[in-house]
Amino acid sequence: MPVIDSSHCSSTPSIPLFDICVYHAPKEHLAFSAIAIVFVLCLSLKLFAPKKSQQTRRIPVFGYRSAFEPTLSLTSRFVVNARKMVTEGCSKFRDTPFLLRRFDSDVMVLPKKYLNELRLAPASQLNSARALSGSKVYKWTFSSPIVESDIHQRVLGKKLVSEASKYLDLAKTELEYGWSTDIPITDATDRTLEWKEVDISHSVRTLVARMTSKVMLGSIPCRNEEWINMTTDFPVRMFTTRVLLSLFPAWSLPVMSQFIPSRYRLKQHFKTAERIIGPLMKSHIEAVQRRSTGAHVEEEDTLLHSMMDAATGKENEIAEMAARQCLIAFAGVNTTSNTIANVLFDLAAHREWISILLKEIDGTTAELGKMNEQEGAGLKHWLGKLEKLDSFIMESMRINPVMLLTSARYATQPQTMKDGFHIPGGTTVAWPNYFYHHDPSTVAEPDVFDPMRSHRKRHASSEQMTKHTVGRIDVNNLAFGYGKQACPGRMLAAGQIKATVVKFLSEFEFRYPEGKTRPTVCGLNEFSFPDLEAKLLVRLRR
Ligand SMILES: *[C@@H]1O[C@H](CO)[C@@H](O)[C@H](O)[C@H]1NC(C)=O
Ligand SMILES: *[C@@H]1O[C@H](CO)[C@@H](O)[C@H](O)[C@H]1NC(C)=O
Repeated sequence: MPVIDSSHCSSTPSIPLFDICVYHAPKEHLAFSAIAIVFVLCLSLKLFAPKKSQQTRRIPVFGYRSAFEPTLSLTSRFVVNARKMVTEGCSKFRDTPFLLRRFDSDVMVLPKKYLNELRLAPASQLNSARALSGSKVYKWTFSSPIVESDIHQRVLGKKLVSEASKYLDLAKTELEYGWSTDIPITDATDRTLEWKEVDISHSVRTLVARMTSKVMLGSIPCRNEEWINMTTDFPVRMFTTRVLLSLFPAWSLPVMSQFIPSRYRLKQHFKTAERIIGPLMKSHIEAVQRRSTGAHVEEEDTLLHSMMDAATGKENEIAEMAARQCLIAFAGVNTTSNTIANVLFDLAAHREWISILLKEIDGTTAELGKMNEQEGAGLKHWLGKLEKLDSFIMESMRINPVMLLTSARYATQPQTMKDGFHIPGGTTVAWPNYFYHHDPSTVAEPDVFDPMRSHRKRHASSEQMTKHTVGRIDVNNLAFGYGKQACPGRMLAAGQIKATVVKFLSEFEFRYPEGKTRPTVCGLNEFSFPDLEAKLLVRLRR
C-alpha cells in the first residue's frame, strides 16, 4: 500500500520524493483497495518495464555496471551521482553522442560539434522549456503555458538583454528594501556587532525573489509576502509532483495525477498567483484602453505589461499568464539564488579573497560613488568595474554549476545534422557544461579553486576582454544555455548575483560556525544546489 505519511516531512532535498500525504481511508474499503491496486499496478508497470526506445537503440547508454544491472538501479544511481556519471560518460565517449538514463526519461548528451547547428533551431522543433519542464509530464504540472508558447523567450529575450541596465536599476530598490527584512541581522533595532547564525539559502532566495518580482510584476507584488513566500514552497511542490508523475506510465497520468497531493498544493499556488496577477492585468488593460482614447496614463514599467502587449489570444488569459509568471520565477529564482549561496560559501572558505575583493569595491566606490546611489550610468556600469569579483563568481560557477547538463532541448520532430547524425523525435538532448569546465585536457588543474582564471583569460588580449564574464554566452561556457533559447534573464541574473555579493562583502563579516567547513553540494539528477541546511555566522562589518 503506497500510503506514506508526510506529517514529519521537511523540505530537505532528499525528502520531497515522499511528500505524499496520508489518504484517509474512506469507509468503502473496497473502493480504496481497488484504487491502491491500480496505483501499484501502474507503478510497477512503469518501473519494471524494460526500457527501450526503438529509435535511439543505436546510441550507447552509459553506466550499466553489467548486463545484469536493472535499469531501476542505474537510474537511481544517476539521481545522486550525476556528477560522476556525466564526467565518466563524457571521458569515455568524447566526441560521440551517448545516453544518460534518468528515471523519467533518457537524455542524449551531444558533443560540442553539434552546438552551432542547433543554435538557431526554433522552439517549435527543439524546445528548451519542454526539456526543462519534464518532457512527458509537463501537461500534468500545469506547465503548458511555458512549453506551448514562447512569449517569455521573445519578450524577455529582447527586454532583459538589451535593456538589462534599466531593469537592474529597478531591481536594486528591492535589494535595499529586502536587506533589512530578509536578513535577520540587519534589523534596525538590533544593530549589534554580535555574530548571528543566518540561513543563507533562505535569505538569498527571498532577496532574489523580490528583485525578480519587481522587474516582472512591479512594486506591489514584490513586497507581497504571500507571493514572495511562494518562491520557497513552489519549487519543492513542483519538483515533487514532477518526480511522482514520472513514475507512472504516460497513459495512466490522467487518472494517477488525481492522487498526488503535492499536485493539489501546486494548483493552490497557481490559484494564488491568479489572485495576485489578475488585478495587475486588468489595470493594464484599462490603461491601454484609456490611452487609446488619447488619455495620459502613468504606469509602472513591468515585464508583465510588455508580455501582455506582445501576447495574443490564449497567451493573455489570466490563468495562462499567472502560471507563466510562476514558472518564470521558479526558473529564475532557484538558479540565481543557489548561485549566490555558492559564492558566499566559497568566499567563507577562501577568506584570503575577501580583502582583495573589498579593495576592488572601495576603488570603484571612490571612482563612481556608492553602489546603491548609482543614478547616471547605472548599476550595470558600476558592477562592470568589478573584474576580480566577476572572475571569482565565474570560478564558483565553474566548480559548482547549478546544472550539470545545459542547453537542453526536446526534439518535437526528428532532426538530422549535416554529417548525417539523426536525432529521433521525442528525444531530449543536452550538453555537458559541467564536463567542459572539468575536462583536464582543456582546463589546467580543474579541481583547484583558482578565482582569477577568468581574469587572466580576459587580460590576455584586448578582444578577450569582453569575454569570460558572468552571463556571457560562449561555446565553452553554457551556464546560461546557448543560442536562440539561451536564458533570457542572464544579464539580470548576473547583476543580481554581483550586487548581492557586493552588499554582503561591504556590510558583513561572515564565517562558518565553529567546526564547520564548506557545505557539500547536493545533487538531484543533473540539478545541483548547496546544502539547504548550511548556515553562516554573520555580523555587521566593523
Ligand atoms: C510567509 O511565510 C512566513 C514564514 O514561513 C510566515 O510566517 C508568514 O505567515 C507567511 N505569510 C503569508 C502571507 O503567507
Ligand atoms: C530548486 O532549488 C531547490 C532547493 O534549493 C531544490 O530542491 C530543487 O531541486 C531545485 N529545482 C530545480 C529544478 O533546480
